[in-house]
Amino acid sequence: FYGKVLSLKFTNVVIMMGSSRLSSGRYLPLIALIRIIFLSSSCSHGFVVRCPTSFGIRISTSLCGDSSDATDTTSTTSFASISVELEDARTAALEALERATSVREAEDVRVKYLGKKGIVASAMGYMRSLPPADKPKLGSVVNVVKDTLESAVVSRKSALEIEEVNVQLEKERIDVTMPGLPNLTPGKRHPLSMTIEKACEVFVSLGYDTVTALEDSPEIETDYYCFEALNCPKDHPARDMQDTFYLTEDMETLLRTQTSAVQIRQMETRKPPFRIVSPGRVYRKDDIDATHSLIFHQVEILAIEKRGELTLGHLKGTVEYFLQQMFGPDIDVRFRGSYFPFTEPSMEVDVFFRGKWLEVLGCGMVDPNVLEMAGIDPMEYSGFAAGFGAERFAMVIHGVTDIREFYNSVSIITLFCQFSCSCFSFLTKIILLQDNRFISQFPHFHDDGMISHLVGGNREERKKAMNALGIETTESDMPFTSLTEVADGSTSTALTRDQSDPKPGKEKKKKKKKSTSSDAVVADIDISKLDIRVGKIIKVWDHPDSDKLFCEEIDLGEEDGPRQILSGLRAHYSAADLEDRKVLVLANLKVRKLAGLESKGMVLCAASEGGEKVVFLDVPKGAEVGERVTFKGYEGEPATPNQIIKKKLLDKIFPHFVTDKNGVPTYKGVTMETIAGLCTSSLPNCEIS
Ligand code: DAH
Repeated sequence: FYGKVLSLKFTNVVIMMGSSRLSSGRYLPLIALIRIIFLSSSCSHGFVVRCPTSFGIRISTSLCGDSSDATDTTSTTSFASISVELEDARTAALEALERATSVREAEDVRVKYLGKKGIVASAMGYMRSLPPADKPKLGSVVNVVKDTLESAVVSRKSALEIEEVNVQLEKERIDVTMPGLPNLTPGKRHPLSMTIEKACEVFVSLGYDTVTALEDSPEIETDYYCFEALNCPKDHPARDMQDTFYLTEDMETLLRTQTSAVQIRQMETRKPPFRIVSPGRVYRKDDIDATHSLIFHQVEILAIEKRGELTLGHLKGTVEYFLQQMFGPDIDVRFRGSYFPFTEPSMEVDVFFRGKWLEVLGCGMVDPNVLEMAGIDPMEYSGFAAGFGAERFAMVIHGVTDIREFYNSVSIITLFCQFSCSCFSFLTKIILLQDNRFISQFPHFHDDGMISHLVGGNREERKKAMNALGIETTESDMPFTSLTEVADGSTSTALTRDQSDPKPGKEKKKKKKKSTSSDAVVADIDISKLDIRVGKIIKVWDHPDSDKLFCEEIDLGEEDGPRQILSGLRAHYSAADLEDRKVLVLANLKVRKLAGLESKGMVLCAASEGGEKVVFLDVPKGAEVGERVTFKGYEGEPATPNQIIKKKLLDKIFPHFVTDKNGVPTYKGVTMETIAGLCTSSLPNCEIS
C-alpha cells in the first residue's frame, strides 16, 4: 500500500492510492477516514471518491460546487466548475501580468498559472475523471486558457524587458559632452619598477653605470655566461638551486637564472676600473607559491678596481649604505658567511624585519678564477659583486605578502598602477590609504613612492596624509625627495670607509640625522663632480642635417686631441665668430647623437628668457685651454669617465645655474671661476644652459 499526495490546493485534492493485494472492500474505512478529515478541515466543496479496481483508488475533491456524493451529476458539475475556475484564473493571471513591473514578476505569474503546479496543469489532471463527452470540452477550454496566458506572458515579458533595458541605459548614460576632469594623471609606476629604479639610483649615486641594453644583459643566455664563466661547471651542485628552461636540446641555450651573467659580459667588454649596476628579469623552474615565481627580477652590482683598492670593508659599507637607502636609516643589517661559486669570500645579508632576520642579498669578493676567465688579470685587479631579488625588496617595502600580486592583473597593486585618474584615483586612494601596508612600513620610501603617488608631490601634504594615518613623521623619516639629491660626499663614505671601523652603520646614521635636521632637508649636490673646462674652438662647420646646429672641433687640452661637440648657436653667431674662441665646456657627458652626428660634451651659454638672446659664457682673461672651472666650497674631483654625469643629475643642477646681476655665472650664488679669475658673460640675470 502506498499513498502519494499529488496536489493539495485550496479547492483541489487528489490522492492516489495503489495496491495490488487489497480488495476494494478493505478501503472503505480508509475512505471514510479521509472523508472525515476533509470535511472537518473546512474543505467546503466536499469530494468525489472513485474506486477503480484492485490497483488503487483515486480520491478527488471537486474543483467547485457542492458534490459530496459520487453520482453522475458530479462530473457535469465538475466540468462546469472547472471551466469557471479556469476562466477566473485567466482573468486573474492577465491582471497579474498587467501589474507586473519586471520580467521576474511576469515569470512568477507564468509559474503560478502555467507551471507544473499551476491551475492549467491541475485542470488537465481532471481529464481522466470526466465522462468521455466532457473530456474534449475540458481539453479545448484548457487549451484556450493556456494559449491566451502563454502569449500574454511572452508579450508582457518582452515589453518589460525593453523597459528594463531603457532604465539601465538611462542609468549608465555617459555625457560625452562633459568637460574633462582636471588633474588627470597617467597610470602610476609599478611598485616593482619603483623598487628597481630606486635601487639603481642608489648605485648610480655611488658612481655605478647602469647596464640595461639587450646586448649587454640578454635574458636568453648561454650556459657559459650563466654558469660556466661564473665558476659553476656542469656538474657543480650549486646548479641544483637554479634549474631553468633550456631552449636547445644540447642545453647550451637557456633562460638566465641570475643577472650575475651580466658581470661576465661587462668584464669582457669594459676596461677596469669600473662599476656597474644591472637590473634584469631572470627565470627559474620553481614551483609557484607566495614567494616563488617562474619569472622574477634581480639587480646585480659589480665594482672592479686596482688590486687592493676594494676590500671586504668597502663591500660591507656599500651594501649597508644601499640597504639604509632602501629600508631607512635605522634598518639593522647582518652579514653571514655564505657560499657562491663566483665570489670568495661570500656573504649573505639579512635585514631585521618584523621581529625576524630576513635574507635579502648575496655578495662577495669576485673570485680570481672568474676575473681570469673573463680576461681580467687578478694580479692587477680585484673587485666585489652583489645581487638581490627585486621582488623580495618590494615585498618588504610595500608589505606585500604574495609575490603573485605583482603580476596578477586584478591585484590591488595593478589596480593602483592602472587607475590613477579621475574617479578611479579617488577609489584607489581610499583603498590604499585604508590599506596601511602600503604606507606604514617604510615612510621614507613612500616619500618617493606610494605616498607621493597617492597624495601628490608636495612634502607637506604627504606628511599630513601620513600623520592622518597615525604614521609619525620626522625630518629624518623623509630625508630626500630623490636619491640623485643625496650628496656624492656621503656616498664616497660608503666606498672608502675603513674596514676596522667597529660600528660603521651607527656612525653614519648620526651623521645623516645631523645633516637633515635643519632646513637643509635635501642634501646638497656635489657640483665638483661636473668637469667644466676651458676649451678652444678650432673648427666650425654647419651641421649637414640641421639648420640650427653647428659642428665644432674643440680643444680641451686632451691627449686624444680635440673633440667634436655640437651646439645650437647658428642663429646667434656666424662660423667666423666662433673660430679660435675660448669657451667653457661641460666635458664629462656621455657621447650623444644630435641629428645623426656625435657630440661629446656641451658648450655652456647664458640665455635670456624665451631664448631670444644666447651668448657663450666667457672665459677669464689668461685662462689656459684645459683649465678647470671651480666653485668655492665644492672641492671634489670630477666624475671619472665611468661615472659620467647623468642627465637626471643635470636636471637637478641646471635650474640653479644662473648669471648674477653682473653677468657672472653662479651655482646657488657660488661663482664659477678658474685659477685665472671669474668667468663672465654679457647677459646678466639669465639662465645657463
Ligand atoms: N646570483 C646570486 C643568486 O641568484 C646572487 C648573488 C650572490 C649575486 C652573490 C652576486 C653575488 O653578484 O656576489 O642567488
